[in-house]
Amino acid sequence: MKILVTGGAGYIGSHTCIELIKANIEVVVVDNLCNSSLESLKRVESLVNCKIPFHKIDIRDKASLTKVFEQYEFDGVIHFAALKAVGESVEKPIEYYDVNVGGTFILADVMREFGCKTFVFSSSATVYGDPHTLPIREDFPLSATNPYGRSKLMIEDFLKDIFVADDSWHIAFLRYFNPIGAHKSGLIGEDPKGVPNNLISYISQVAAGKLQKLSVFGSDYDTPDGTGVRDYIHVVDLAKGHVKAFQALKDKPQVLIVNLGTGNGYSVLDVVGSFKRISGKDIPYQAVDRRSGDISVSYTDPTYAKEKLNWIAEYELDEMCEDTWRWQCMNPDGYL
Ligand code: NAD
Ligand code: WQD
Repeated sequence: MKILVTGGAGYIGSHTCIELIKANIEVVVVDNLCNSSLESLKRVESLVNCKIPFHKIDIRDKASLTKVFEQYEFDGVIHFAALKAVGESVEKPIEYYDVNVGGTFILADVMREFGCKTFVFSSSATVYGDPHTLPIREDFPLSATNPYGRSKLMIEDFLKDIFVADDSWHIAFLRYFNPIGAHKSGLIGEDPKGVPNNLISYISQVAAGKLQKLSVFGSDYDTPDGTGVRDYIHVVDLAKGHVKAFQALKDKPQVLIVNLGTGNGYSVLDVVGSFKRISGKDIPYQAVDRRSGDISVSYTDPTYAKEKLNWIAEYELDEMCEDTWRWQCMNPDGYL
């Protein structure tokens, strides 16, 4: 079994390569390294003790992608490559639609040419917009409030259309909640460029003394402590979900749509408290205005993932923080 992993040098992709190889699946990675470093894959290789074929390719480069498909016979693709910063997507919609939608379109076209019809797509809980009720189930209404989210919805739509036209495809949309944590080895983890946008990376850099204090975006939400609530999921659990999804897809041609989260909601202050306990460091914070576009609460109903994939997240918040902190301490400047 051989899988093409696009964006495999990135945060979720690198962790997923490990779990795929552990499941005896061969991987080939393509990535243009615009938001990652080859060092992540070198470390993955050292952890799994095997070589990973790598091609530095932009997924929009159809000729190069075609050559990769000529070189290997793939049983499927797990497609992580994308731009993912919500705020930046508002500033640069053309780039976001070009890479995310255009890139996926080219990938699907090349897959069709080679008769490779198993496709696992990295979607996001952001496609649920601001849900009316909780927990969030896969059949909830979809909406987007920014180009990043809209690019995910557009991709879901056109992949559904591909299945309508040719129902021999095996397609999965995995809608991730909030991935955090890092591999237990401390060798791979999330390496944000510049000042982090996401909560856990920010907290981690405050704990490390690289940033002064956390701004808590909103303390007047309708939540137990007034701060936003999210379903944080350990990246290794998420990676294992991809292996399960790939295996489940084999059963029959379908479009399988699954939320990947724990089902637990934690507030910003819960995460600060856990990180403080785990790291033994002070984490100064200050409540500020809400961040535009943020929702109050988001967490999944994990029932369908259990039923369809036989998958359930195992790690608790403290362990997610512990693993993030180990990665931070062992790599104070990321992969540099
Ligand atoms: P990441 O930026 O670490 O990984 C994405 C990888 O894709 C990077 O290595 C980057 O270099 C590569 N890439 C980007 N554009 C490319 C292009 N044109 N051609 C080839 N490679 C390209 O991000 P991640 O957190 O690992 O996210 C992986 C996927 O999961 C993305 O599709 C993202 O939208 C989705 N997702 C992420 C989160 C999250 O919070 N991290 C949540 C939901 C969904
Ligand atoms: C979590 C909570 C913030 C930073 C984003 C994307 C989503 C998905 C995952 C890709 C919120 C609060 C944050 C800070 C804070 N990505 N916060 N101070 O916004 O839930 O999801 O990443 O698909 O599409 O939108 O994650 O980590 O940014 O925020 O108070 O400095 O932490 O308001 O309540 P979010 P996050």
